[in-house]
Amino acid sequence: MNAAAIQPYALLDDLECEQRIVRAKQALGERVVVLGHHYQRDEVFRHADFTGDSLKLSRQAAASKAEFIVFCGVHFMAEVADILSRPEQVAILPDLAAGCSMADMADLQHVEKAWKELASVLDPDTAITPVTYINSAADLKAFCGAHGGIVCTSTNARHVLDWSFGRREKVLFFPDQHLGRNTGFTMGIPLDEMVVWNYDRPMGGLTPEQIENAKIILWKGFCSVHQMFQPDQIDSFRQKYPETKVIAHPESPFEVCRKSDYVGSTEYIINTVAAGPPGSRWLVATELNLVNRLHDQHKHEGTSVHFMSPNVCMCSTMFRIDPQHLAWVLENLVDGQVVNRVSVDRETADLARLALQRMLDVSP
Ligand code: 13P
Ligand code: SF4
Repeated sequence: MNAAAIQPYALLDDLECEQRIVRAKQALGERVVVLGHHYQRDEVFRHADFTGDSLKLSRQAAASKAEFIVFCGVHFMAEVADILSRPEQVAILPDLAAGCSMADMADLQHVEKAWKELASVLDPDTAITPVTYINSAADLKAFCGAHGGIVCTSTNARHVLDWSFGRREKVLFFPDQHLGRNTGFTMGIPLDEMVVWNYDRPMGGLTPEQIENAKIILWKGFCSVHQMFQPDQIDSFRQKYPETKVIAHPESPFEVCRKSDYVGSTEYIINTVAAGPPGSRWLVATELNLVNRLHDQHKHEGTSVHFMSPNVCMCSTMFRIDPQHLAWVLENLVDGQVVNRVSVDRETADLARLALQRMLDVSP
């Protein structure tokens, strides 16, 4: 039987999709698990069997016994699910175009080039631990696995950096400069010991002295959503509402994190707002779907949760996962067809798993 094409699904309204998703999930029973990242839109998020941040969902994928893991998130998350699950399990991303613009800012070719160029100043395999944020392609995780490195998420970046400095004196951190800088600074590393590697320039645009003096070499990558948050947005909001508590995801710029009362992953943001007293006011620097959901969940307690930027900043790639695509992949599974499988080749997966396992071992 051929897989049903997506086109007819694009014409379905959300309500019809809703009913068809529920029916398909019922028909599949325990054969399928649907994982949903906090940035997913509500029409999709409500169908998730488990929700979470990147760390929680990778643990969930590793623990799942389901035949099919349908990941409502972005591409690197489905890759991690494939790497950490058993070989006979199948990871599915409802829309394969749901990538991550930050993850795309580092590729294997440029990271290998950087490693070679760094070798003209020091021996990277004894002096530098490569650390990749989980928001990266599987071959970069494999690169870390092969070079004594490790993966991190926004939840465990501090533990991962502690582990890394316990082994080698320096870290090459990719792709997100902000998570690297924000975490390094809270560990007491001065800003001038964290240099930015511009992958478009020879030697990253750095001198040998800058490399020798650096503790962390930060890849010049960023999240297009979180870079929209600015410190003056905090100042003007606090002027109006001085009692506001400010909370930011560590992908936000350094000055935003410095001015925030709390900094942490999406799961941390959810738990911190939930633990706040009723009637509190929050200004939040993270993706809009999550901020709106937090407001809706807490408004009955008189709590208000505000989005930091005056501009609408959704993660456009997370938004690609819509009820139509979810209905499409699930109904195909009911019909015995796998569409939009994400599969990492064995050699890459084995090395990437090594780097992911190191992360899981050091995570709180
Ligand atoms: P979390 O690990 O905090 O869920 O972050 C993932 C992500 O992509 C944030 O932009
Ligand atoms: Fe990637 Fe930013 Fe979207 Fe997170 S919010 S998935 S880092 S583009």
